[in-house]
Amino acid sequence: MRTQLTFVNLAQVEAELLAVLAVDSQTSTGPDAKPAPVLLTDDEAVISAAAQVLGSGEYKAGVNETVLLHAPAGLKAKRLLIVGLGKQAKVNIHKVRDAAGTAVRYAKPRSIRELAFALPESVVQPFNACARAAVEGAFIGDFDPDTYRSDRKDQSIKSLTVAAPAAVDQTAVQAQFDEGVIIGESQNFARALVNEPGNKLTPTVLGQRAGHMAEEVGLKCAVYSTDKLHELKMGAFWSVSQGSAEPPALIVMRYEPEDVTEGPVLGLVGKGITFDTGGISIKPAEKMELMKYDMAGGAAMIGAMRAIALLKPRVRVIGIVCAAENMPDGKAQKPGDVQTAMPLEAGKPGKTIEIINTDAEGRLVLADGLTYARQLGATHLIDAATLTGACVVALGMINAGVFSNDDAIYEKFDAALANSGEKFWRLPVGDEYAELIKSDIGDIKNTGGRWGGAITAAEFLRVFAEDTPWIHLDIAGMAWVEDSRPYIAKGPSGIAVRSILEWVRSY
Ligand code: BES
Ligand code: MN
Ligand code: ZN
Repeated sequence: MRTQLTFVNLAQVEAELLAVLAVDSQTSTGPDAKPAPVLLTDDEAVISAAAQVLGSGEYKAGVNETVLLHAPAGLKAKRLLIVGLGKQAKVNIHKVRDAAGTAVRYAKPRSIRELAFALPESVVQPFNACARAAVEGAFIGDFDPDTYRSDRKDQSIKSLTVAAPAAVDQTAVQAQFDEGVIIGESQNFARALVNEPGNKLTPTVLGQRAGHMAEEVGLKCAVYSTDKLHELKMGAFWSVSQGSAEPPALIVMRYEPEDVTEGPVLGLVGKGITFDTGGISIKPAEKMELMKYDMAGGAAMIGAMRAIALLKPRVRVIGIVCAAENMPDGKAQKPGDVQTAMPLEAGKPGKTIEIINTDAEGRLVLADGLTYARQLGATHLIDAATLTGACVVALGMINAGVFSNDDAIYEKFDAALANSGEKFWRLPVGDEYAELIKSDIGDIKNTGGRWGGAITAAEFLRVFAEDTPWIHLDIAGMAWVEDSRPYIAKGPSGIAVRSILEWVRSY
């Protein structure tokens, strides 16, 4: 998608389709209160072109509600699409992001390849962030998962023009616009990885994809496999991989700005299970195909590292993805097996783990990933994983789970959400829960029983974060969009890329 920012009058914008936003300005909620749609532009030509449909009562400017006008009088654009943001009082930049996605997804199946999007005047604040959000939304909307259709027709938008009113700080808006391109592309980069089936995207291939990306954007990247796992004594990570014919991949990406030699080192750790059958504790067949998305946490870290490399925040970042395939096999680990996790310092004993359920594999690979990040010098940790079905039960597909051992680091993440627009809900951790994963034979066991499953999984990770400030994101319910929405296709969501990035930039 080619993108450009323009400050010309909307009437002058040449495009196959010009999208403008509208809000419902009705404040009364009484029984007779009629919706009062208002366009978010001062452009007289656009206002008069839209006057009839807005006055008709047919269009209410509801959230992502659209109406299309052909050959609008007085405009150079061939079509005018009005996209609703809903009630004026509830408008924010996140609604603008979705509206841009809605406009793109309106255009795509209608063979419209050229789109202009008018940023709203005044109403939505802060205006500059609005430019970024709109571009992000356009990229998000442009993604479709039909990669392997043999008759695939590329419906993607070729050209996106974002039109901003002339009376703004044009340099600042341009900067936000440019960021939006990087962030939108990085989120889609992660989504494309998540979309790949398990046979195409093995741990090795995931490592190659990360490596190519790193080369393109100037990140250091090393991809290790079995030997390195043994060398580092990553017994937990290896225990998951040992049952697969596909070797594991330990992906280590480093962002080290030249002149930053002190301050925090942020460690990003992602679960990269390229397919999760459950192993010997095998999953039921129903919906098992979706377990190709069990590397969405790892993909989020790879996408975030891409954006970090391009946006260049002044902080050091290490990105680690623990990629493996969880398979049943003669060599696979069994319930009852005891594994020894990677020790923080070579020569010291690692923590021992009793395997209760081989399907609780994500926490095993992350345990060693977290320890490795700390060994490499990470002072602050964030992990992302499609970790538990229990998190989906708790929060549904509206919020992802966030857990932390430190309020200060959590506050920074929570503040990042205001920019990213992603929804995370904090769940607790604590020593009472830790009791539930004590093992009779070893230090800890890899499941905590029926109740509070998302929390006991987080507790397991907390054992390895130890006293390092740490955030855990359980994105199991949010990494895959089950039903398409006006602004996003069914399939991989790319959740957490934006929030992780914003959190990193806050240091
Ligand atoms: N990858 C799954 C979690 C998952 C479930 C992701 C649904 C996306 C959608 C994870 O490895 C898993 O199997 N977790 C088990 C843990 C249990 C055995 C303690 C679960 O949630 O059932
Ligand atoms: Mn599993
Ligand atoms: Zn899993």
